[in-house]
Amino acid sequence: MSHWSPQSWQQKTIRQMPDYEDAEKLRHVCQDLSTYPPLIFAGEARKLKRKLAMAVEGEAFLLQGGDCAESFAGFHTNDVRDTLRVLMQMAVIIMYGSGKPVVKVGRMAGQFAKPRSEPTETVEGTTYPIYRGDMVNDIDLDLALRQPDPARMIRAYNQSSATLNLLRAFSQGGYADLHRIHQWTLDFVKKSHITDQFVRYSDLIQSAIKFMKSAGITSLNHHLQKTDFYTSHEALLLWYEQSLTREDSTTGEWVCGSGHMLWIGDRTRQIDSAHVEFLRGVINPIGIKCGPTLDPDELIKLLDILNPDNEAGRITLIVRMGANKIHDKLPKLIKKIKPEGRKVVWSTDPMHGNTFKTDDGIKTRSFGQILDEVKSFFAIHQGEGSVAGGIHLEMSGRDVTECVGGGQKIQPHHLKDRYHTHCDPRLNASQSLELAFMLGEFLQQEGV
Ligand code: PEP
Ligand code: CO
Repeated sequence: MSHWSPQSWQQKTIRQMPDYEDAEKLRHVCQDLSTYPPLIFAGEARKLKRKLAMAVEGEAFLLQGGDCAESFAGFHTNDVRDTLRVLMQMAVIIMYGSGKPVVKVGRMAGQFAKPRSEPTETVEGTTYPIYRGDMVNDIDLDLALRQPDPARMIRAYNQSSATLNLLRAFSQGGYADLHRIHQWTLDFVKKSHITDQFVRYSDLIQSAIKFMKSAGITSLNHHLQKTDFYTSHEALLLWYEQSLTREDSTTGEWVCGSGHMLWIGDRTRQIDSAHVEFLRGVINPIGIKCGPTLDPDELIKLLDILNPDNEAGRITLIVRMGANKIHDKLPKLIKKIKPEGRKVVWSTDPMHGNTFKTDDGIKTRSFGQILDEVKSFFAIHQGEGSVAGGIHLEMSGRDVTECVGGGQKIQPHHLKDRYHTHCDPRLNASQSLELAFMLGEFLQQEGV
């Protein structure tokens, strides 16, 4: 294979990237970013890979979730804390049901660039460049603000750095302590049957901890007080990714320092793609979005490029077929991957294949369809004798109204009450926990 460098992607086919008018400004921003400290370190990326290797074998379960798109305007300590808290609650529920460790990865601290179907949009006779995420341009319908501006990458870096600082503090500094599990529910103001169910789990977990302590298991505290939490985003804006890539001085390997795990989107996973070229050279764990148009032979070629040594934990296949297509599409992929002995984490993204517009033109997803796709994912893996190893969600720690259905019975006419997403509709805190209880059940049945 040809020589790789952090810039070699520039020779390949570039898709879904903005056209910057001011090349000199772009060069300066990249130059500045390349002198900034990386946000994550090689040892952390390797540790995550080892954990994901366990998910390949079904000895751990990957829980990945967060915003579709992080935003500058929406940045708030409480939002970071709330999303982390819901992910921790979900992890506890899944662990309790499955008896497996849960690998927690946020779509956080870097998820600022979005692939889009159209390059422009026309509103009331004016055509604007499409919004590509806060790292690229502004969501407001304003011709000047919609121009891609390289300086936004610096702001995204700074916000990612602040977010990661909060995540590290919350996960290591006491908030995540399992002894405080009841407090997590108290923070969760609205009472519902889902929060009641979580309180019951919390009681059971606290008695288990008490019992183990009284039985003299003294090394427990260390494991309960802190949790490992990782970050991830779609590695889409390669100027940003390239500028944060560093050579690990101890091994000479390249690490992308923008986030622990990076994924390639369904629109940029072609063999000749700049995105594939960039990611093949860094050691981070990589996700590949697998949509309905992915050909099984093409997937094998992608794995040859991205994981030539078949290292376990390097690749997570994030399957996003849609509830109606998964039965046709997923078995074909598994039937190709399994006999070849390719080591992958199979993860389900039940969000991106199930988006539709309401009669009022609001983009939404139905909780019922999301559950259907998850159920099918587990059933298909059981049938094929392979491992359902993870889930990838767009979710918020807040009580948003973006997806219809669930225990709160959100209807299309409720959507505009608290519709805050900058891109795709997310599950709210209650819908997320509801899904986690289902996952716990599926995994328990699998383990029997
Ligand atoms: C996303 O994860 O927000 C996304 C755009 O996904 P996909 O590439 O699967 O469409
Ligand atoms: Co999305």
